[in-house]
Order: sequence, then C-alpha cells, then structure tokens
Amino acid sequence: VPHDRVLRAIAAELGAAGVVTDRDRVASHTTDWTGRFTGEAAALVRPSSTEEVAAVLARCHEAGVAVVPQGGNTGLVGGGVPRHGEIVLHLGRLRGVEPVDEGALQVTVSAGEPLAGLQAAAADAGLAYAVDLAARDTATVGGTIATNAGGLHVLRWGGTRQQLMGIEAVLADGRVVSHLGGLVKDNTGYDLAGLLCGSEGTLAVVTRARLRLVPRHEARVVAMVGFVDVAAAVGAVARWRRRVASLTAVEVVLAAGVDLVCEVGGLPPPLASRPPVLVLVEAADRDDPTAAVASAVEATDGVLDVAVATNEREAAALWRYREDHTLAINTLGPPHKLDVTLPMAALARFAAEVPDAVTAVEPGARTWLFGHLGDGNLHVNVTDLAPDDDRVDDVVLRLVASLGGSISAEHGIGRAKRRWLDLVRSPAEIDAMRAIKHALDPRGILNPGVLVPERTA
Ligand code: MLT
Ligand code: ZN
Repeated sequence: VPHDRVLRAIAAELGAAGVVTDRDRVASHTTDWTGRFTGEAAALVRPSSTEEVAAVLARCHEAGVAVVPQGGNTGLVGGGVPRHGEIVLHLGRLRGVEPVDEGALQVTVSAGEPLAGLQAAAADAGLAYAVDLAARDTATVGGTIATNAGGLHVLRWGGTRQQLMGIEAVLADGRVVSHLGGLVKDNTGYDLAGLLCGSEGTLAVVTRARLRLVPRHEARVVAMVGFVDVAAAVGAVARWRRRVASLTAVEVVLAAGVDLVCEVGGLPPPLASRPPVLVLVEAADRDDPTAAVASAVEATDGVLDVAVATNEREAAALWRYREDHTLAINTLGPPHKLDVTLPMAALARFAAEVPDAVTAVEPGARTWLFGHLGDGNLHVNVTDLAPDDDRVDDVVLRLVASLGGSISAEHGIGRAKRRWLDLVRSPAEIDAMRAIKHALDPRGILNPGVLVPERTA
C-alpha cells in the first residue's frame, strides 16, 4: 500500500505526534458535524507549520495519495470529511494571531486559529473581525476561508472573501505561495486569494491569511419583530436597509423552529403573541442606534409584536432563538441541510411553496426554515428523511434554480450539492472550473469528490 510508505515518510518529518492512526482518535474526524456525511480515513496527519504542510503535500503528491484538508469540522456539506481512505490533513495545530497592524487595520492569522480567537484579538485592539457565525469557537479561520463562509454580518461587511487581503497556501505539489503584504491596491494579475477562498480544499491548502478588520461598535441594539407572514418580513428588510445605515443583521425564524428551540433549550417564547414569522434585527454604531431602529420598525407594515433587548444579556437571549436552530434541529437526527439564496422578489413565494414540495416527495418529512433574511439566504433543513435519500434535495434545489436562486448561499458545494452544480453554473463555467482544478492539482489529490462535478460525457 502506498499509504504505509507515505505515512512513514510523513512521520519522519513531523514526528510521531504528527501522524495518528488510532481508530478512535481518527473517528472524530471522519464524520461531519451533522452526522450525515461519513467515510474512512487512512490516517489523521497533524502538521504544526506551513513547512510541515508543504512536506506532507510533497509526499502525497509524489505518491498520488489523496488528502482531505480539515479545520474545525463544522462544515455542513461533507466537504471536510474523507470518503474512501484518504489522509485527513488537520490544520488545527497551525494556531496564532500576529500583532494587529493598527495602521492598516489588518491582521495576519494562521489557518488553524478558531474564529473566536481572531475575534478576541481584534477586540483587544479596539476593532472587530467582520465575519461571525454560531460555530465561532470551533470553526477555524482557514476553514472559513476555504468555504468563503458567510454568517451573520454579510449584510453590513460582506462575506469572508471581502475580508481577505492576502493569503499563504501550499499547492498540491508542496510549493508555497505567499502574498501577505496586505496592500489595499495591488493590481498585479490573478487574484489567488480570491480564487482559493471558496475553493473548498480542492486547489491548495490555506496556511495563513491577511484579513481586514472593521471598527468595533459598542452601541448595539437587538430586537425581535413578529410578522404576519414572510412577505411582510421581506418588505421590512428593504425599508430597514434604506432607513438604518448601521444594520448589522436581519435574521428570520419561523414559529415552528422557535417552538423547537424553546423546547430543546427550556426557554420561554421570545414574543408572547407567538407570531408566525419572527425577524431578529441588529444595528451597531458609535452612537446608540436604538431610536433609528425603533422608528424604522414603527413605520413598517405587518408588524404584530416587538421585543427590544435593553442590555447585552437580553441581546444574547434574543440571539439564542436564532442561533440555537442548528443544534435544536440536529436533536431530531441528521438533517438534510440546504442553504439557498433567492432573489428577494421570489423569497416569500419560495418559503410558501417549499414545505409542500418536500411533503409531495416524502409525506413524513418536516421542513424547517430560518436564515439570513437580509441576504435573501434561507436555510432549508429537512428532517425525518434518510441521510442518503436525495429526492427532497433534488426538488428543493430545482425549485430554487427555477426561481433564479443559488443552490448554495454560504455553506459551499462539498459532496452534498456537487450533483446539482449544473443547475446554476453553465457547461462553460464548469469547464473553466475543471481547467483551474487540473492546472493546480494535476494528480487530483486535493479533496477528490468535492465541488467540481465528475465529467459525464
Ligand atoms: C446558520 O446560519 O445558523 C448556519 O449557517 C448554520 C446552519 O445553517 O445550520
Ligand atoms: Zn447561515
């Protein structure tokens, strides 16, 4: 087996601690967070520096051994777990945040640093890192770059790609590309950082990144607003975006999901009137944005009820009704997680039609909708469905495409959505992706089976 020889060579370079073959220890890296995607790994390899990552990839490239890069393993599309005996390349030992560059408002971070570590370092410098998501304590900076993670503040600051000022990565053959100078204007050819961001470990392994930081706004308001229906909530988004420049999040949840979160977490309902649609709105600024948000909400049609947090504890309590959806839904068994964007004009129609589209295929399946309303991004979670039953995924993703939406808003394609990429990407686009993949990974060792569809003809 080439694996044994390669693993021995890697152990010689990384030390014995760098290669783990113990079945129990490897097992926690072979199933994804949801429990839906699982496979076998030859070993877990744990480099602690860029040079060690380079050494690992050089060996694997030479021997043609496949590698699955993995950060915090919080991905939701099966893009970070092995299938058939690949090596899992775990980046968790590449920790560290360099001193914040206060002149440039930037920072250089190692790939294995948890998102929360980066956020804390930014806060210590009186700044913030713009990307935030519920898995912040586990998700790594490198993983969020590889997946171009979105999260809760895309509306205000953009997604991960918009924060990326430079990258260091190891190519499939072990060579290192490094461009971490952080120049705001740097128009010197192909944007490798932008290309590797969202490439899901299929083109190179990210080892460090240069990221922009944003002002830290201490004055924050969070409110939960109840609506009669999704159409009214969508109408509110446009109004609030016009009127409140300091909006940082507009998130939607539905009564059924809130009831589940309350049941699982033992929480009281957020709004006594129990409206069918609830929108969490957050604004942050140097000066208190409460009055601006209050007057925008007052002037909005279709509002049934409002709860405003008056301190940080109450704000965190309101956020729980939104953030705990992921955990609460997982208590029902591994869900099918579809993460879609709709044009704003089609979002309410989609939300109305999708539960029936699901039950038409599988009468026992339950549909849960929540997400980043301000971005037109709904998370469609379907439970009470076998993990490998793709029929529901198929009808939902076709409905999305027929309405002009995207089959992945922020989670990526991974293994889960690869079959459907051609619903939203043309043959010429997919050919271009294949050409890039082949140029950067000619032996196909980086995350095989992820993102880029198999050639069918
Ligand atoms: C979220 O918005 O909560 C995340 O994308 C995770 C999820 O979809 O469950
Ligand atoms: Zn999300």
